[in-house]
Amino acid sequence: MGVDVILDGKALAREVRSRVKEKSLLFAERAGRRPLLRVVLVGEDPASIVYVRNKKSACDEAGIDCLDTILPGNVDTNAVATLVDDLNCDDKVDGILVQMPLPPQIDAARITEMIDPAKDVDGFTPWNVGLLSTGRASLLPCTPRGILTLLKHYSIETRGRNICVVGRSSIVGRPLANLLLASTDATVDVCNSHTRDLKAHVLQADIVVSAAGCPGLIRADMVREGTVVVDVGINRIPDPSRKSGYRLVGDCDFEALKGKAAAITPVPGGIGPMTVASLVENVLIAASIRAGVDIGAL
Ligand code: GUN
Repeated sequence: MGVDVILDGKALAREVRSRVKEKSLLFAERAGRRPLLRVVLVGEDPASIVYVRNKKSACDEAGIDCLDTILPGNVDTNAVATLVDDLNCDDKVDGILVQMPLPPQIDAARITEMIDPAKDVDGFTPWNVGLLSTGRASLLPCTPRGILTLLKHYSIETRGRNICVVGRSSIVGRPLANLLLASTDATVDVCNSHTRDLKAHVLQADIVVSAAGCPGLIRADMVREGTVVVDVGINRIPDPSRKSGYRLVGDCDFEALKGKAAAITPVPGGIGPMTVASLVENVLIAASIRAGVDIGAL
């Protein structure tokens, strides 16, 4: 059996952004201002620069103002903390996003912990992580939110299904597992790079989500026919035929899995755009809660 569906995150993300745009206009009408996201970037990590550019252009398209502040790569924790403090206190700011990873001299946990949870559009603060586990969070982490939106859009059943999450990062694996536990009736198996016999776990899965950041990790022999494959990996591998010298691949062997999976997300064009679309949803949600403006369900 060949693949039935390429899960087109790029097209769905466009739909999400256009829905957010309608609601942003409504917000602006009722609140007398547009939602505002402030992005903090420290240093010049090339991947982070691309991500921030994508986030800004998605906001632009969704009727959301987005301003970035770029700090030199050698600043200390206090310099970032002072900026976050200012943004916390600025009533015009609806969302604060500190792009990760931060340079090694910066205490990333301290910075994350000091963001006002009401402006925490990444869903990374301890308060929002806790709310996520109780199933009462308003601001869900962007990649897990995007994955759930995609599964729902394609009517992929989760009730009673085995979902294997490969990866336990605080950005994707752990919050995704918590979100699945809190909001679906799936059985959730969380694996990591030390998992003994990963293949045995993945073979049990009706849905596998790989967020390990290891190209080639999920091979066709590890997946049953009819499994849904969600590839969160974004890995740069050398490719001299490209002007950039590299190309992006996921964690999963897309070409081989295409012949076996029921549905699969491509890289690029799968979960990446859904993450960015979820961010603009979060900014609008934060803005409407903060301003006390009812814009209806997203
Ligand atoms: N770096 C990689 N992904 C993310 C994300 O979702 N949010 C932030 N702030 N940094 C990231």
